[in-house]
Amino acid sequence: MGRVWTSMIALLLCLMTSSVRGEDPYIYYTWNVTYGTIAPLGVPQQGILINGQFPGPEINSTSNNNVVINVFNNLDEPLLFTWHGVQQRKNSWQDGTLGAQCPIAPGTNYTYRFQVKDQIGTYFYYPTTGLQRAVGGFGGLRIFSRLLIPVPYADPADEYWVLIGDWFGKSHTALKQTLDSGRSIGRPSGVHINGKNGGLEALYTMEPGKTYKYRICNVGLKEALNFRIQGHPMKLVETEGSHVVQNTYDSLDVHVGQCFTVLVTADQEPRDYFMVASTRFTKKVITATRVIRYSNGVGPASPLLPPAPHQGWAWSLNQFRSFRWNLTASAARPNPQGSYHYGQINITRTIKLVGTRSKIGGKLRYALNGVSHVDPETPLKLAEYYGVADKVFKYNLISDAPDAAIASRDPIIAPNVINATFRNFIEVILENPTKVTQSYNLDGYSFFAVAVEPGQWSPEKRKCYNLLDAVSRHTIQVFPKSWAAIMLTFDNAGMWNLRSEMAENRYLGQQLYVSVLSPNRSLRDEYNLPETQLVCGIVKDMPKPPPYSS
Ligand SMILES: *[C@@H]1O[C@H](CO)[C@@H](O)[C@H](O)[C@H]1NC(C)=O
Ligand SMILES: *[C@@H]1O[C@H](CO)[C@@H](O)[C@H](O)[C@H]1NC(C)=O
Ligand SMILES: *[C@@H]1O[C@H](CO)[C@@H](O)[C@H](O)[C@H]1NC(C)=O
Ligand SMILES: *[C@@H]1O[C@H](CO)[C@@H](O)[C@H](O)[C@H]1NC(C)=O
Ligand SMILES: *[C@@H]1O[C@H](CO)[C@@H](O)[C@H](O)[C@H]1NC(C)=O
Ligand SMILES: *[C@@H]1O[C@H](CO)[C@@H](O)[C@H](O)[C@H]1NC(C)=O
Ligand SMILES: *[C@@H]1O[C@H](CO)[C@@H](O)[C@H](O)[C@H]1NC(C)=O
Repeated sequence: MGRVWTSMIALLLCLMTSSVRGEDPYIYYTWNVTYGTIAPLGVPQQGILINGQFPGPEINSTSNNNVVINVFNNLDEPLLFTWHGVQQRKNSWQDGTLGAQCPIAPGTNYTYRFQVKDQIGTYFYYPTTGLQRAVGGFGGLRIFSRLLIPVPYADPADEYWVLIGDWFGKSHTALKQTLDSGRSIGRPSGVHINGKNGGLEALYTMEPGKTYKYRICNVGLKEALNFRIQGHPMKLVETEGSHVVQNTYDSLDVHVGQCFTVLVTADQEPRDYFMVASTRFTKKVITATRVIRYSNGVGPASPLLPPAPHQGWAWSLNQFRSFRWNLTASAARPNPQGSYHYGQINITRTIKLVGTRSKIGGKLRYALNGVSHVDPETPLKLAEYYGVADKVFKYNLISDAPDAAIASRDPIIAPNVINATFRNFIEVILENPTKVTQSYNLDGYSFFAVAVEPGQWSPEKRKCYNLLDAVSRHTIQVFPKSWAAIMLTFDNAGMWNLRSEMAENRYLGQQLYVSVLSPNRSLRDEYNLPETQLVCGIVKDMPKPPPYSS
């Protein structure tokens, strides 16, 4: 009866608040970002802490909450955070990429304001400036379903974050210098789970018989990781904002920037168990472990770690194909996820992006369709908004259909910006001619990940697409000499970053921005430039353009 009453009271409260002031609740955070000593691999080094914590504190929200984060930058360099996977409806102003915002200067503070509109699920945040992400500044961001919206599984006994990533063991400034000098950062020296590796102390405790939710994200720079828990299969329930068909997995391949939410039941002999994260496609496998404990446990974990799946990527591809959207489950709104029939919408444009790696004058660069992106001092979004885009960048340097020789030509180094027609339904093909598994993210949207296939894409390959129940998500892997296809409607006005999630590739140019302008320049489609938005570059002293009126 408690549940029924709670629901009814909640419903009443909802109706009341929505009729009184149509505003969603606010949650506030204050973050003090500083350097501090951390030792993820046991060796002390300088890291980036938020309120003294590494990994940073979680953002705990419910669908539609307004999140306000006052960030004090006490580092000695500029800082920006991105809210990886948060769609920022109408609000690329707060997306935290250098194409959208000016960075927060050292010794100053800036307040992010954004809404986690119509989303649920497991996400994370990280710094986008320099290579800061290599030494911390990341943390979990969860969005709960609103009370009245059914979730397709019973409430777990508790929830646990599992942030896994490769670790290079060098300072972010040293890693940045390596890249600036045109060299690769090479291979990681270790892997961490929640900022640590090894040890026999318990990271989490489970009560026997109970079921727990684990929120797993790969926050690393480069390596895809396989995650598994000794003796405990994982029931997958959500992927990057979508409720999925609840398959059970012994292990999950988590590509850079991806997140999974799984349920784990404590139904084994009561003792300790290892959680394991190991590199997936490296010659030498690097492994991290942490311990989980049964509250009535009697004894240490077995030293026999569960094996990783076969090292080739065929296994990983098969696992990708097994991920399906649950068409009948609710999303952040009460309507079923599958009520949006993306497979029946006509494609108005196909953008093929080929991600290449080259050396220019001996210096390493990565590119998309022959352009290796650099961030101008004036954020692209501001240049466009102030009407001075032509002084900062050129639209559409790249073609939608690059020729086959693109991989053998030297890329141009310039801001890489394309424009898309508001509300058009577009197909994007991500081709990876290199020998390294890729991972791509698009800000501002979630897209249907309709195919990942070996070889080169051609229009006939559309017959391989999953046009029924592909998962709507924000990050997709592309295997070596393979392609991936995603589909989406460009219905979120703004300046959105499409990037390789691999920190080295991104830093050395493998990213672009999609400018999506609403022809109506209306508040219905995009928020006004926030009063408090930082200005920099050539727009710094320019008068603000008149705000959108309606
Ligand atoms: C942030 O932390 C540093 C180091 O602990 C401290 O000196 C500083 O006063 C803090 N700043 C704020 C705004 O809390
Ligand atoms: C997170 O938010 C949920 C839902 O509002 C709440 O039940 C829970 O107590 C919060 N947890 C923390 C650690 O703040
Ligand atoms: C900086 O922090 C102060 C104190 O919390 C706050 O009043 C102010 O609005 C913040 N400034 C910005 C630009 O966010
Ligand atoms: C999909 O979600 C529905 C509605 O919550 C649930 O009843 C069903 O079991 C789920 N299906 C699968 C295959 O996970
Ligand atoms: C899609 O295109 C086909 C063929 O051109 C046309 O028959 C159909 O009506 C279009 N569908 C929609 C939803 O526009
Ligand atoms: C993209 O920008 C060009 C140049 O400003 C313009 O001519 C074109 O109409 C725009 N296209 C779209 C799809 O917005
Ligand atoms: C622009 O506004 C008009 C009038 O409100 C509306 O009919 C039209 O659909 C809008 N266009 C777009 C692309 O939103």
